This record gives sequence, C-alpha cells and structure tokens, in this order.
Amino acid sequence: MIAPDRHVVLVGLMGVGKSTIGRMLADRLHRPLLDTDQLIESATGRTVRQIFADDGEAAFRECETQALLGALASETPAVIAAAGGVVLSAENRAALEASGAKVVWLSATPELLAQRTHRGVHRPLLDADRLGTLQRMANEREAMYREVADVIVSVDHRSVSDVVEAVLR
Ligand code: S3P
Repeated sequence: MIAPDRHVVLVGLMGVGKSTIGRMLADRLHRPLLDTDQLIESATGRTVRQIFADDGEAAFRECETQALLGALASETPAVIAAAGGVVLSAENRAALEASGAKVVWLSATPELLAQRTHRGVHRPLLDADRLGTLQRMANEREAMYREVADVIVSVDHRSVSDVVEAVLR
C-alpha cells in the first residue's frame, strides 16, 4: 500500500531499473518523478560524469545529499528515484527514515546489473571492471539498503510491470 501523503523512494544499485520503474510508478500514481541524478545535473549545470572528473566523488556525494534532502522536502508526494549511492551517508539514511517515506529497495544480482549497465553514461565508477565493482558495491551496501528499506522487491526474473505491481502492493 502506498500512503497518499508519503513519498515513495526507490533505492538500489546502478542498473536495477530505478528510473524506468520510477517513471511507471509515477504515471500510475499521478505523481511527479524526482530523480536525484537529474536534480544534481539541473542544479549544477554539469553532468554526473563531469562532477566526478572535475571535483571527485566526495564533492559528488555532497551534491547527492542536497538533491535527496531537496526531493524529500518537496510538499507534493512524489516518486523519488534515488541514485545508488545515497545510502552511503548516515545523514541520508537518517533523512530517509525521518521523512516517513515508503522506501523500496529494488534488488538484483550483480550479474544482472552488469548486463544492464553496459551504457553507463552517468556511471563513471563502472568504467572499469563493471561486474567486480558491482559485486563489491553489493557487499558494501547491502546492509545499508536493508537498513533504510520498508520493502524489498527482487527484480531478478521479473518484468518491469510485475515489479511495479509488487511495489504498489
Ligand atoms: C552511483 C550511482 C549512479 C550515479 C553515480 C554513482 C553509485 O546513479 O549517481 O554514477 O555510487 O551507485 P544510478 O544509481 O541512478 O545509476
């Protein structure tokens, strides 16, 4: 069940389908879709890749926190596609908890994610050893996704519309 006055936040690793599923959910729920990577790009006028290249990951993570906090502060209940790394920061995890949003962890095996991320334009962290990096990220982040999640939905062997139905249930 989706409470009408609460945000829905999709979290999970790169390639799991947060943007695609978020778009479908937003349409179904007649809500805006807020995507933290896009919020960063419009706020800074730079791409995610440029921010990583020019200022480094730590600077990107600060932008990411601002984008997440901004999205959570929006008054209209939204669907928020949160970039894969939002759970790394304790501040972000606390903000997710405090917001009362329904947080959905979309999970998948690193093998499936590696297949899906072959065109990682805004994913400089996957430029080398995509599968190995995704396996390492899965190990490092799993407990953090679990900590923030109200619901866990596996996307392995499921169509996009099945996943959307599972999130709405
Ligand atoms: C990242 C995920 C990416 C993007 C950046 C870093 C991560 O977003 O923010 O490349 O550390 O997991 P998506 O999860 O939307 O691909």
